[in-house]
Amino acid sequence: MANTILVGAQWGDEGKGKIIDVLTEQADVVVRTQGGNNAGHTVFIGKQKYVLHLIPSGILRRGKVCVIGNGVVVDPISLVEEIQGLARLGIKVDGNLLISETAHLVFPYHRELDEQREILKGKNKIGTTKRGIGPAYGDKAARVGLRLIDLLNPARFAENLQNKIQENNEVLKAFGAKPLSFKKVHQAYRTAASQLKPFVTNTVVYLHKAMQREKDILFEGAQGTFLDIDHGTYPFVTSSNTTAGGACTGSGVPPHRMDRVVGVMKAYTTRVGEGPLPTENSEIADLLHGMGREFGATTGRARRCGWFDAVATRHAAMVNGIDELAVTNVDGLDTLEVIRACVSYRVGQKIFDYVPNDVELLARCEPVYVDFPGWKRSTSKARRWKDLPGPARSYLLGIAELTGARLKIVSVGPAREQTLQL
Ligand code: IMP
Ligand code: MG
Repeated sequence: MANTILVGAQWGDEGKGKIIDVLTEQADVVVRTQGGNNAGHTVFIGKQKYVLHLIPSGILRRGKVCVIGNGVVVDPISLVEEIQGLARLGIKVDGNLLISETAHLVFPYHRELDEQREILKGKNKIGTTKRGIGPAYGDKAARVGLRLIDLLNPARFAENLQNKIQENNEVLKAFGAKPLSFKKVHQAYRTAASQLKPFVTNTVVYLHKAMQREKDILFEGAQGTFLDIDHGTYPFVTSSNTTAGGACTGSGVPPHRMDRVVGVMKAYTTRVGEGPLPTENSEIADLLHGMGREFGATTGRARRCGWFDAVATRHAAMVNGIDELAVTNVDGLDTLEVIRACVSYRVGQKIFDYVPNDVELLARCEPVYVDFPGWKRSTSKARRWKDLPGPARSYLLGIAELTGARLKIVSVGPAREQTLQL
């Protein structure tokens, strides 16, 4: 299968966790390259549900090596908890996890600042996960961040953290928030350091050695194209490059070593957090929430829902170079009479066949729809493409064609076996 980048083609939560789990079967190494524990990847194995935040979903399969790359921001306390949580479920994390020594750290002041900035923004808030992701990447770009390599050097860490806490306490006080205790943070982080130390290494060197030994690498994207810091609906985005290029910068594997890009998208659209969502629709939201679907894996928030948006996914196919598509949650549409797909946007007399960059303009976009007949039958037992009802096949081929990429995988439920390969 060679080296594969997997990205979300919408606003995150496309069902990447499950598709990664399926593709991991053919991979040797699985790498996270951006984001932090803002991500929530849900994977079902049998009846057991696993929710992963920082650790690549590949951890659930034996014999795979998982890497947290240099482009990720790591909250060490939450990572230790995630490792312990997996252990309680019988998943061993020992030689199968490597963490980049140059990945940046997330601290309590990042989380606190994330929250305070959101409060200050009021109705213009981003709707972040409050995990401190934006402020941590902010420090990285401002060259004042601390990395895992610093955490493992006790003297350097103590001195740098002291300065960071001092500076950030001034900012927190200005916000009217409680200052942090250096002692407490230091102690908690040093404890986490001793637990994480065995995993921390030069992952760039590791990945290149793996490639020399012809290992196949899967780059596991988090969030989605329209949450990308450059290509998303700024400022309603996350703080990393969620698009395909982020897999290179976030791992140290160069572009010419990437062999294919798989884009994951839902058969409809969802978004959690604020910002424009042109096809948002309360009927489909009520339908999906009524089925108990579409609640966030990280924050539990009800996701906003809408019809499939081909203007958006076409844009995603373009910026990511999507070769193959995986369409998930097809079963969510099983009961509908008519299924709509947005093919362009309209503002007054003007028609857009691309996503305008001005979020205020995007917020005014009215979707132009084409209608597909529904199949009004359960698809969840389908195991092969030909098991799907004719209208479902037409819809899936239709949205793939509108997106401009080849349909390769269809998912009709959370289980591994509810996956159809074309
Ligand atoms: P942040 O990444 O916590 O700063 O949040 C910024 C925006 O990205 C918010 O709208 C979040 O809801 C959204 N977001 C962050 N991570 C995810 C994810 O894994 N899935 C879906 N939305 C996400
Ligand atoms: Mg998610």
